[in-house]
Amino acid sequence: MTADTWNPDQYQRFKDERSRPFYELLALIQPSAARADETGKGSADAGSGAHGAGMRVVDLGCGTGELTRELHRHLGARETVGLDSSSAMLSRAAPLAGGGLSFQEGDIPSFAQRLAAGDEAPFDLIFSNAALQWVDDHPPLLVNLTAGLAPGGQLAVQVPGNADHASHVVAAEVAQEEPFHTALGGHVRRFPILTPEGYAASLDRLGFAEQHVRLQVFGHYLGARDDVVEWVKGTLLTDYQKRLSPDLWDAFLDRYRARLLPQLEDSRPFFYPFKRLLFWARR
Ligand SMILES: C[S@@+](CC[C@H](N)C(=O)[O-])C[C@H]1O[C@@H](n2cnc3c(N)ncnc32)[C@H](O)[C@@H]1O
Repeated sequence: MTADTWNPDQYQRFKDERSRPFYELLALIQPSAARADETGKGSADAGSGAHGAGMRVVDLGCGTGELTRELHRHLGARETVGLDSSSAMLSRAAPLAGGGLSFQEGDIPSFAQRLAAGDEAPFDLIFSNAALQWVDDHPPLLVNLTAGLAPGGQLAVQVPGNADHASHVVAAEVAQEEPFHTALGGHVRRFPILTPEGYAASLDRLGFAEQHVRLQVFGHYLGARDDVVEWVKGTLLTDYQKRLSPDLWDAFLDRYRARLLPQLEDSRPFFYPFKRLLFWARR
């Protein structure tokens, strides 16, 4: 097991920018939902009262939990569980628990397998913002998540689709240079996300009654092009940091910066276009 290099402070540096896709995803959730009961059978929600009142929700890869709390409050959910594998992120989330909101440490694919095995009570909403890109093999993952939904339950996911931006391409190139290639054992971080039409076809095959899939470009104004490095340090580069010694990590970062910055426009503010894929479906 590699080290937990998620750093809540680094991740939160672009908190406002990172929360925009979350709100777009939240807006896709429909108010009236089936209600998952304790026995695993769903029953229709009359839809009275708060948006999504009575829903049982899970937020996969909840991170620092602030957006999970926002989700829980916005929906007026009966119960929301935030799941994450990073103890550093969860320690930030823990004080936010209460009033039906809880956090637990766990791995998304293992949790999805438990859902499929019926070891977890079904959810009215399975939500995930900017986390499933870290999980391999999405088609079987979607099968397992779907099995964990109550009748009428909803799946709402956002994943970055920015792998072809210089900020991501250069990271993969540096990882293949020496001495990093050897130190990383040949590892290059690829995000195994499907195309928008790939998700649409998967959701259709899984029998969802309704779906909405879209690719959206979020334009972020950063102070200067150097801020792109700070942004990526909070996410993609954590995957290299955890596999390198501190000295090699410093060298990796220097090399990354030296190769990346000349490829970015030297303007202030710097416009960072970030593609993201959002998909929502209802059983
Ligand atoms: C980019 S952060 C997003 C956090 C939060 N959803 C948000 O929107 O602010 C990704 C989170 O996914 C978590 N994560 C990555 N792989 C995971 C896995 N296999 N199981 C559980 N959590 C995982 C990380 O620990 C991290 O907190």
